[in-house]
Order: sequence, then structure tokens, then C-alpha cells
Amino acid sequence: MNNEHKRTRRKRLAALLMGVFAGAVLLIAFAVGGRVATGQSAPARSGSDSVFSPAHATFREALVHFLGWRPEPEQPIPFPHRTHFEEAFLGCTDCHNGAARGPIARIPSVVFCMDCHFDIATDREPIQLLTSYYDRGQEPPWERIYGWNPEAHVRFNHAPHVRRDIECSVCHGDVTQMIVAEPAVDHTMSFCVACHEQNQASIDCVTCHY
Ligand code: HEC
Ligand code: HEC
Ligand code: HEC
Ligand code: HEC
Ligand code: HEC
Repeated sequence: MNNEHKRTRRKRLAALLMGVFAGAVLLIAFAVGGRVATGQSAPARSGSDSVFSPAHATFREALVHFLGWRPEPEQPIPFPHRTHFEEAFLGCTDCHNGAARGPIARIPSVVFCMDCHFDIATDREPIQLLTSYYDRGQEPPWERIYGWNPEAHVRFNHAPHVRRDIECSVCHGDVTQMIVAEPAVDHTMSFCVACHEQNQASIDCVTCHY
């Protein structure tokens, strides 16, 4: 066997090994992808490229949405409601200042928080995190804890309720005692309709649906 021959054989062997290796990588990738898509592995949230429904990256996401499960909200900063009620003496609508005026209560901007936190508790980690959002001109990505799937087509408006002096706690529980806001009340249709019936408020479908 001359050198020329040996070199080609070595090349062929290398090519074969590369082929086997690539095949194995593909198989593993396929198996992992399949696991993600059928929801057997935990970190499926970021999604794979296997599309089961146009709106969901994975079957798991589609199923979770269909069953109405919501993942535990993970807030960017552990905002303590109780502290602001007991130590900063703020009322709900000082921060959620849309509630009396329109449909949305509104989450206050970081600019509002910094009115106090340029000076208050600046040595604490959550406040340093808050300040870094402010410095970058970003809002902390607060996760919503209430709300419905868009398919339920529910229309809600805070203002008419606040005008009738219905306490926030009727629909949100006692937020003054919460550290991080938690979903305390189930906003089912019967919850809404029962109170509308008691108060001679409209129970026409189009009052709450669009
Ligand atoms: C009117 C002033 C005021 C405003 C406005 C305010 N806070 Fe505070 N905040 C306080 C006070 C007072 C404390 C308690 C400080 C202490 O424990 O010494 C506090 C505490 C905190 C803490 C707990 C810090 C720790 O770990 O001990 C966080 C987090 C926080 N605020 C976030 C926010 C965010 C987010 C906003 C805006 C949505 C905000 N605050 C708006 C006054 C304010
Ligand atoms: C200092 C400002 C501040 C005050 C005062 C305040 N909140 Fe909040 N609230 C926030 C921030 C910031 C969030 C977002 C973080 C979170 O959900 O924990 C929030 C979230 C909420 C949520 C969750 C909404 C959703 O769907 O995600 C409810 C409900 C709520 N607040 C009700 C109240 C009520 C009721 C009061 C009065 C007892 C109140 N808040 C007082 C700042 C405030
Ligand atoms: C009659 C029931 C009801 C009352 C009373 C009520 N809420 Fe709500 N709130 C809701 C519902 C339902 C949602 C979810 C609406 C949606 O996602 O479209 C909500 C959402 C919110 C949110 C998050 C979304 C947003 O609108 O900004 C905040 C914050 C909030 N409420 C604060 C308050 C505060 C503060 C009060 C008292 C001043 C209050 N709510 C009174 C039913 C109520
Ligand atoms: C604690 C009692 C109570 C609860 C709970 C309640 N509502 Fe209401 N709602 C009222 C009353 C009273 C009015 C009438 C206000 C008025 O016309 O002065 C009203 C008015 C409304 C309006 C405005 C109707 C109009 O004519 O503009 C909408 C929309 C609405 N409610 C949706 C809802 C939804 C959706 C829920 C459930 C998440 C809900 N409400 C829960 C008492 C309640
Ligand atoms: C006072 C408010 C209110 C009125 C009036 C109302 N609904 Fe609802 N409805 C709701 C809320 C809130 C939900 C969302 C429940 C959830 O997702 O858990 C809902 C959910 C539904 C759903 C299920 C949608 C889904 O896929 O989640 C249907 C169907 C429905 N309503 C039909 C009606 C019809 C028909 C009427 C008139 C007879 C009506 N509703 C009147 C508040 C109302």
C-alpha cells in the first residue's frame, strides 16, 4: 500500500466517523426535541421549533393554555405591598391611578418609585435592582397575575366599580397584607354575574363580552 492510498483510506475513515458522529448528534437532538415537544421535560418554556398550533411553540404550551393553567408569576423585584401600605402610607390608587378613571388600574412606572427610592432603602438589593432598571430607562417586566385568555373575550372596566365604592379587596383580596401580589379571587363568570344580579347591574352578555 503506498502513501497515496493510505491517505485516501484515512480520509474515508475520517469521513465515515464524521458521518456516524453527525448521525448520533442528529438522533440525540431529535430525541431531546421530541421530549420537549411532548412535554416530558421541565424546561419546555422557551419552546422548540416543533409547532403544534400556530399560537404555541410546543404542545405543552398549547395544553397549558387550553387547560387555563398559569405558571406561578415570577416578579423581577419582590415588591412588598404590605410595606408600602404600613410604612409608606400609600393608598391603592396613589399607585394604581387608572382605577377610578377607566378600564385599567395601571401599574405605576419606575419613575414614580424612584421619587422615594433615590433616598429610601438604597442599600438593599431589590432597590439597587430597581434603580438599575431606572438607569437603563426600562420598566421592570412585572408579570400579570389576573386576566383571562383572550378567547374568553371578556370586557372589564374598573371605573364603574370604583365609582360605586366597591372595595378593591372584593375582587383582589386583602392586598394590604400581601408581600408579592397573589391571585386571591377567582374571576369566574358566576363571581361577576352574582354581584351584578344583587346590585341590579346589567347581566346582558354584551356588558362583559365582545
Ligand atoms: C412614598 C414613597 C415610596 C414610593 C413611591 C415607593 N416606595 Fe418602596 N418603600 C418605601 C418605604 C418607606 C419602604 C420601607 C423601607 C424600609 O424598610 O426601611 C419601601 C420598601 C420597598 C422595598 C423593600 C426593600 C427591602 O428589601 O427592604 C421594595 C422592593 C420597594 N420599596 C419597591 C418599590 C417599587 C417597585 C415602587 C414603585 C412601584 C416603590 N417601592 C415606590 C417607600 C416608597
Ligand atoms: C407603591 C405602589 C403600589 C401601591 C401603594 C399598591 N400597589 Fe398594587 N402593585 C404595584 C406594583 C409595582 C405591582 C406589580 C408587582 C406585583 O404584581 O407584585 C402591583 C400589582 C398589583 C396587583 C396585581 C395585578 C395583576 O394582575 O398582575 C393587584 C391586584 C394590586 N397591585 C392591587 C393593589 C391594591 C388593592 C392596593 C391597595 C391595598 C395596591 N395594589 C397598592 C404597586 C402598588
Ligand atoms: C369588580 C371587581 C374589581 C374591583 C372592585 C377592582 N378590580 Fe382590579 N381587576 C379586576 C379584574 C377582573 C382585573 C383583570 C382585568 C383584565 O385583565 O382585563 C383586574 C386587574 C387589576 C390590575 C392589573 C391590571 C390593570 O388594570 O392595571 C390592577 C393593578 C388592579 N386590578 C388593581 C385594582 C385596585 C387598586 C382596585 C381598587 C381601587 C381594584 N383593582 C378594584 C377586578 C376588580
Ligand atoms: C361586588 C359587585 C360586583 C362584582 C363582583 C362585579 N361587578 Fe361589574 N358592576 C357592578 C355594579 C354595581 C355595576 C354598575 C355600576 C353603575 O352602573 O353605576 C357594574 C358595572 C360593570 C360594567 C359596566 C357596565 C356598563 O354599563 O358600562 C362592566 C363591564 C362590569 N361591571 C363587568 C364586570 C366583570 C367582568 C366582573 C367580574 C370580573 C364584574 N363586573 C364584577 C358590581 C360588580
Ligand atoms: C358580569 C359579567 C359577565 C356577564 C354579564 C356574562 N359573562 Fe360570560 N364570562 C364572564 C367572565 C369573567 C368569564 C371568564 C371566565 C373564565 O375565563 O374563567 C366569562 C366566560 C364566558 C364563557 C366561556 C368562555 C371561555 O371559553 O372561557 C362563555 C361561553 C360565556 N361567558 C358566555 C356568556 C353569555 C352567553 C352571557 C349572557 C347570557 C354571558 N357570558 C354574560 C363574565 C360575564
